[in-house]
Amino acid sequence: MCGIVGYVGPQSCADILVDGLRRLEYRGYDSAGLAVYDGKKVDVVRAVGKLQNLVKALKEHPLEGSLGIGHTRWATHGRPTEVNAHPHVAGNIALVHNGIIENHIELKRQLGEEGVKFVSDTDTEIVAHLIHRETQGGHDLVTAVRRALGFVHGAYAVAVIDQKQPDRIVVAKNASPLVVGFGEGEMFCASDIPAILPYTKLMLPLEEGEIAVLSATGFELTTLDGKPVDRKPRVITWNASQAEKGGYKHFMLKEIHEQPRAIEDTLRGRVDLAAGDVVESEIGVDAATAQLISRVYFIACGTSHHATLYGRFLMESIARVPATTELASEFIGREPVVGPNDLVVAVSQSGETLDTLAALKVAKEQGARVLAIANVIDSAIPRAAGSAFYTHAGPEIGVASTKCFTTQLAAMVLLAVFIGRRRGSVDKDRAGAILQALVELPHHMRTVLALDDIIRDLARPLSTAKSSLFLGRGVSYPVAAEGALKLKEISYIHAEGYAAGEMKHGPIALIDAEMPVIAIMPDDKSYDKIASNVQEAKAREGRVLAIATKGNADIGGIAHNTIYVPRVDATLSPFMTTLPLQLLSYYVADFKGTDVDQPRNLAKTVTVE
Ligand code: M6R
Repeated sequence: MCGIVGYVGPQSCADILVDGLRRLEYRGYDSAGLAVYDGKKVDVVRAVGKLQNLVKALKEHPLEGSLGIGHTRWATHGRPTEVNAHPHVAGNIALVHNGIIENHIELKRQLGEEGVKFVSDTDTEIVAHLIHRETQGGHDLVTAVRRALGFVHGAYAVAVIDQKQPDRIVVAKNASPLVVGFGEGEMFCASDIPAILPYTKLMLPLEEGEIAVLSATGFELTTLDGKPVDRKPRVITWNASQAEKGGYKHFMLKEIHEQPRAIEDTLRGRVDLAAGDVVESEIGVDAATAQLISRVYFIACGTSHHATLYGRFLMESIARVPATTELASEFIGREPVVGPNDLVVAVSQSGETLDTLAALKVAKEQGARVLAIANVIDSAIPRAAGSAFYTHAGPEIGVASTKCFTTQLAAMVLLAVFIGRRRGSVDKDRAGAILQALVELPHHMRTVLALDDIIRDLARPLSTAKSSLFLGRGVSYPVAAEGALKLKEISYIHAEGYAAGEMKHGPIALIDAEMPVIAIMPDDKSYDKIASNVQEAKAREGRVLAIATKGNADIGGIAHNTIYVPRVDATLSPFMTTLPLQLLSYYVADFKGTDVDQPRNLAKTVTVE
């Protein structure tokens, strides 16, 4: 997830571009850059770090001109360095990109054979070279972009300028957002509305597979295969803060709703459905390691720890490898025994959590093989591990982790299938079925998210509770633990996430008519047992809210209220059951009026032990 912005018109554009990038920094902030046509050539300035570093660089090297593009980066391929920062230049072409090019390895090899020399490690530079190659073949810019994108698989929003046709910007979109803004004799483009909202309220979001030419005198919209599109811009009535949150009240709600897209980004280029397998190059573990290890040892904190509870389940059930998971702070507090036959997997959204980093270092010192699963590229934990699986969820602004949790779950599935296939513990057919179900998840997640209003209504009575109990068994236990954490951290209501079978060993004493019990009970082999636990809670007057599978005919007689989620492969039900709990917590907190995005006493990145 990066931010892109572009301007063509009569004004000097560098300040407009920087101003737009400032409002897009929430999409990425590890480097930034501008490319501006100065009347003779396209000049580029880039800087590592936050936008203020680019502003400093522009003071030393001002860019003058009225055609330009800008970018703020959230690294996916290649470290956050100046050469990897956008815009990328190939001959007369300068380009900014948001997204992930799936077939970048193959394209880079082909271009390399044609003599192209690459200066960066990014997937984006490949697209710049493809477009340049097409312009060298005599095509005008829009045709060149159209032809070049024909070779590309993956997600992109691009804005491209050409030194030889310096009156236009060509933009195109597939699976990454892009909006065009209409001014008086000027045109804008950006990843998101807030970037250009101060300049125009008249906007047109591009749809999948569309390409547009923007110039001071006009706008031309077609599909990637050249068919004209006639769609009118609309007036945006949001204020700037609403716009940054995509019209949602809080970042957390926006991020909850971004999850289908985030999962698609995690899976992009990593699933080979025909082979019923996971692509080795993007997983951070090699086949030899997968075969050799005798145990997988997960370490993490908070929400990431809950993802590892699911990881442990999958390692045992799919990969058939003994697996354990440990809170990072406890791992370093003991004298853990790990060694060369262990794969220690450190999981962290931020990649900076000090406990997890310290635990990883202990594991490394003891000779374990290590892998990081992280969201922030090149952060401390992946750097210390030396090998990483990046979840590509994009920046998460809300302190409560939502899309980063479900993308971690997706990473767990891919890792378990990869290791299971290497060890022969899951065959091609079963692995293929899991992967097929995995790629279908975003569709089902959208169905769950459409229950937003129903869940909001169910949240209102919960907002007056003092305490609550979340129950799950098997694959739903991590979901219960995560559901409870979500509720407590943003609503300040006490919540326990418990393995349902443990309820009778203590927590049952808490249950009375004032105690909401949230039971995660999808149709799976644990269903009958958790149904009995729920009856036990009801017998103590507990108010039960169930998360169950659509079509379950008997839950209505057990629970007071039920949220029904789509039926998916039973192994993957956490993707369905997590979402209602995130929404429930969000609305409870919102009814209570707490600071949802920045709850008290918490920080997004915890760099103290
Ligand atoms: O960045 P990390 O995944 O390492 O962070 C771990 C926890 O601090 C984090 O998950 C925390 O529990 C969140 N606030 C949960 O929403």
